[in-house]
Amino acid sequence: MTILVTGGAGFIGSNFVLDWLADSGESVVNLDKLTYAGNLQNLASLTGDTRHVFVQGDIGDGVLLESLLAQHKPRAVVNFAAESHVDRSILGPGEFIQTNIVGTFNLLEAVRAYWGGLDADAKSAFRFLHVSTDEVYGSLSKTDPAFSETNRYEPNSPYSASKAASDHLVRAYHHTYGLPVLTTNCSNNYGPFHFPEKLIPLIIVNAQAGKPLPVYGDGQQIRDWLYVKDHCSAIRRVLEAGGLGETYNVGGWNEKPNLEIVHTVCALLDELRPRADGRPYKEQITYVTDRPGHDRRYAIDASRIERELGWTPAETFDTGIRKTVQWYLDNPDWVANVQSGGYRDWVSKQYGDSGDNTAEVASA
Ligand code: NAD
Ligand code: TYD
Repeated sequence: MTILVTGGAGFIGSNFVLDWLADSGESVVNLDKLTYAGNLQNLASLTGDTRHVFVQGDIGDGVLLESLLAQHKPRAVVNFAAESHVDRSILGPGEFIQTNIVGTFNLLEAVRAYWGGLDADAKSAFRFLHVSTDEVYGSLSKTDPAFSETNRYEPNSPYSASKAASDHLVRAYHHTYGLPVLTTNCSNNYGPFHFPEKLIPLIIVNAQAGKPLPVYGDGQQIRDWLYVKDHCSAIRRVLEAGGLGETYNVGGWNEKPNLEIVHTVCALLDELRPRADGRPYKEQITYVTDRPGHDRRYAIDASRIERELGWTPAETFDTGIRKTVQWYLDNPDWVANVQSGGYRDWVSKQYGDSGDNTAEVASA
């Protein structure tokens, strides 16, 4: 048996692939376009593991998808592939529309055709799990209750609007065609392999480099934070036992203002890797112009997945953030390769320069 994972060279997708293969004997076909956010070094520990088949390609490429599905006959598809950074979506929304909306549509079309051709048993066992975000629900005031699955969609950024559109397409493919879909809407993740354009890794990396730690606006915007491996365990659980056509909110019960996050990371660095001059890292905090349309607060009510599927996070914020800071300190080569852009040469270094962007390469 095998599953098809899209976007499995990104932050959450690579953690998911690593945990999946550590947990089960079931192989993974990993389809990833390798945009700036895709980094095959995240999967370097799988070198030689024939259970992992990496394919460089686009979820929008229907011809490639048709042949991959026919060849590997996955029993499930887990869709992580997306443009994921809000600030990039503000500067240039086009790629977000293309991948998150058109790409998801093309993926759904290919999966619908494949699923329609399966025999009755395989058809009823098949699952399409779509990984989405809490940002589709919009922004909360300080006193609003946390987002539940019945909150209406009110996306505010091009990123969240494009994810909302993809969620609606997934829903429609279930309602109209009966495709056995599942959707998860998760809060902000943090952990290993997080690209240092996002808040937590950016703070860790900039602090050590002696650079400013940029805090948008007043730093009082609130996010809920979940350790990435807990998100991965939630996805595995939903894939295993989620109700068809249902959505599950996933969160860590860790609502924190951004400034508190930055102070926590600085304090951990003071303890684990003090500055040479002995001064605290928080002196590097710099307040910068706020993000346009910046959502003030996200909060997740994760009681449904806990109650119905028995999922709970294993990490508290204190344990997860300590592991995360330690991981960045222990992996300076990964950080240096991301910063230099060297990670982008990994495919040709590792697999030879085939020049064929749909080349399939087992991790051998
Ligand atoms: P990421 O940006 O780190 O990784 C995205 C991956 O998708 C990259 O490897 C990239 O190369 C690949 N990709 C992009 N466009 C593609 C395309 N057209 N075809 C194939 N592959 C493509 O993102 P992430 O943080 O790992 O997020 C993964 C998913 O989880 C996204 O759908 C995101 O919306 C969702 N999500 C993220 C968070 C978070 O905090 N990071 C929280 C909730 C939900
Ligand atoms: P980010 O990690 O980009 O995730 P998202 O926008 O999807 O929530 O940002 C998390 C929060 O941190 C968000 O409120 C924006 C803020 N932020 C900063 O204050 N400074 C920064 O340099 C970045 C990247 C984000």
